[in-house]
Amino acid sequence: MKRLSVTLFLLGFLMLSVSARPPYKNPRLPIEKRVEDLLSRMTLTEKVMQLNQYTLGRNDNVNNIGDIVNNLPATLGSVIYFGTDPVLRNAMQKRAMEESRLGIPLIYGYDDIHGFKTLYQISLGQACSWNPELVERMCAHSAREARRSGVDWTFSPMIDVARDPRWGRVAEGYGEDPYVNGVFGAASVRGYQGAGLNSSDAVAACLKHYVGYGASEAGRDYVYTEISRPTLWNVYLYPYKMSLDAGAQSLMSSFNDISGIPGSANRYTLTEVLRNEWGFDGLVVSDWDAVKQLINQGYCATLREASEKAIVAGVDMDMMSHGYDTYLEELVKSGELPLAVVDEAVRRILRVKFRLGLFENPYTPEEAPETRFFLPDAMETASQLAAESMVLLKNNGVLPLKGVDKIAVIGPLAKNEWDLMGNWKGHTEPEEVDVFLNGIIREFGAKAEIRYEQGCNVRGEGDISKAVNLALWSDVVILCLGEQLNWSGENTSRTSIALPTGQESLLTALKETGKSVVVTLTNGRPLELCRIEPLADAILETWQPGVNGASAMAGILSGRINPSGKLAITFPYVTGQIPIYYNRHKSGRRGTQGVYKDLTSDPMFPFGHGLCYTTYTYSEPRIVGTASLEAPFAVEVDVTNTGSEDGLETVLWFVSDPYCSVLTRPEKELKFFEKKPVKAGETVVFRFEVDPARDLGYLDGDGKYFVEKGEYHILTGNKDLKISL
Ligand code: NOJ
Repeated sequence: MKRLSVTLFLLGFLMLSVSARPPYKNPRLPIEKRVEDLLSRMTLTEKVMQLNQYTLGRNDNVNNIGDIVNNLPATLGSVIYFGTDPVLRNAMQKRAMEESRLGIPLIYGYDDIHGFKTLYQISLGQACSWNPELVERMCAHSAREARRSGVDWTFSPMIDVARDPRWGRVAEGYGEDPYVNGVFGAASVRGYQGAGLNSSDAVAACLKHYVGYGASEAGRDYVYTEISRPTLWNVYLYPYKMSLDAGAQSLMSSFNDISGIPGSANRYTLTEVLRNEWGFDGLVVSDWDAVKQLINQGYCATLREASEKAIVAGVDMDMMSHGYDTYLEELVKSGELPLAVVDEAVRRILRVKFRLGLFENPYTPEEAPETRFFLPDAMETASQLAAESMVLLKNNGVLPLKGVDKIAVIGPLAKNEWDLMGNWKGHTEPEEVDVFLNGIIREFGAKAEIRYEQGCNVRGEGDISKAVNLALWSDVVILCLGEQLNWSGENTSRTSIALPTGQESLLTALKETGKSVVVTLTNGRPLELCRIEPLADAILETWQPGVNGASAMAGILSGRINPSGKLAITFPYVTGQIPIYYNRHKSGRRGTQGVYKDLTSDPMFPFGHGLCYTTYTYSEPRIVGTASLEAPFAVEVDVTNTGSEDGLETVLWFVSDPYCSVLTRPEKELKFFEKKPVKAGETVVFRFEVDPARDLGYLDGDGKYFVEKGEYHILTGNKDLKISL
């Protein structure tokens, strides 16, 4: 009897608590129902607080945790999380869950760009691998590290098409081509989110900086951008559509003024295109302080007005301008801002939080760093990505290095952990980076004597005499030149993309010894190499390869690895040629006019350039099936490895529409690429599935796709297949 009454009591209690549980807390209900239920319970103040992102944890000293956490409101929407372990996150999340009326979890964002702790090749280098599957894998590893450390949302990938290497942020994107940015953007999204948003191995991706930020005038950061509507659609919006199709959950509105309407108050891009036309239902966060900067840009006179313009345009969350938290409530109360606009922004933020499973799993398990960081599969990916992304720019035959007994390793990047890391170095410490010198010692140390001299520092300063003597002693010199880590990245524009004179002088002096000099470059942008190229016997571009690049670099020099990287961005001959990129529009007077009179108009190394230790021949491309504008068809090419080394070849497929009566088009446009192994002596078929409704046409100024009848060319290698459609 007693047992029965206890059971009945428990059952009743259970039923009561289930019925008392509000629908938004019920994981079995559809997300949209939960969003609407929660929204209906929120006060205006609670709604407005969801629309703000503050920062947390620059100082994660245990003694300070309490203070920082207590300074933040429990009803806040989001924080940027600077911690490497979940302790601080969980402390703050506990306040949000337990000290706010509705228990809405925070979402924690962070710039996990090319690595959280295990640091990988920078994005520009990643694109030169032409291996999106590898980048997807890298992003998945990175997501695992971030989520298990307390981060739910990464501000990555950056898919700003960048054609001006003076702009420091070229390092952060995938180069000059819209399609390449789209492919790698989509691969990153799949990698970050692939495990399922509510899994402990995934983070939400954030496409940035929406949009046209890379078109900065003269490469200066944050400045005005002049972008015509056709260029906006065909160049800058193009990769966003591809990456949204991969399921990206968020975007970051950009700092730049887009032809008179700043990116963070641009209703056309943020609402008409993104929401109305593309149907995006995730969230848009502003870039840091971008709402406030609308005042500096001359678009608004006050932060109050800026906040109203930004949210009406479609910016849901204010990152650190403190405009939304200060003014939105009074704007709604005074009737200047419709409540529906606030509701919609809240909806988008809650939706992403529900998708991430934050209501069910607000806390991150507190695991030891060893179980999260530098795991073997991540380190292996870092190594492979480094190997596939390095680009052999020149080789007069000195590489691969064979039969050398004495190697002089010289230069400011040879024994330099710091500058291999890249600008978004996450939480990596210099001592976690493998330096080039160590890679060279491991690679060649058993057979050759290796000695090192710095020669000069990265700024080009130093006494080079010891380095010259070392070169005289050696059989070959490996000279490691490059940029300082913080010469690229945000707000690091440069008027010249040449290396410091002192580095160039070091090369001149070493070359005068009569020894072969192999130059390696480590940098976050294309460089002006017109004085370096004639002196170097070989040049290997290593970009900024992260923690595990040394073995890859040394392996390429020894021939253990056959290089397969190709440039995803043009290297100008001199800085004065910028902007210079492959998919330019044609000029009226071709050939001898519209060119420079003082120097070549050609770049030093074009888009797609990259050497290897074997040779490939391409057959004439052929159509498979019937080429038509109405239905998909295919084009194939046979690629034969005619050398003696196995290799990995990337075939780039360009489309050219020589005459277009609606809008003139670029000389050629990349529409597909594929990287495959081709063994020595082997012939491999590469195939481009042409979908005329995607690959042959162009977008007009309203973003409408059109395709005209007439002549088209499919270009690959140095082959040109003309088709009439
Ligand atoms: C400003 C940068 O432009 C952006 O890329 C970054 O994600 C935010 N700061 C947050 O750190």
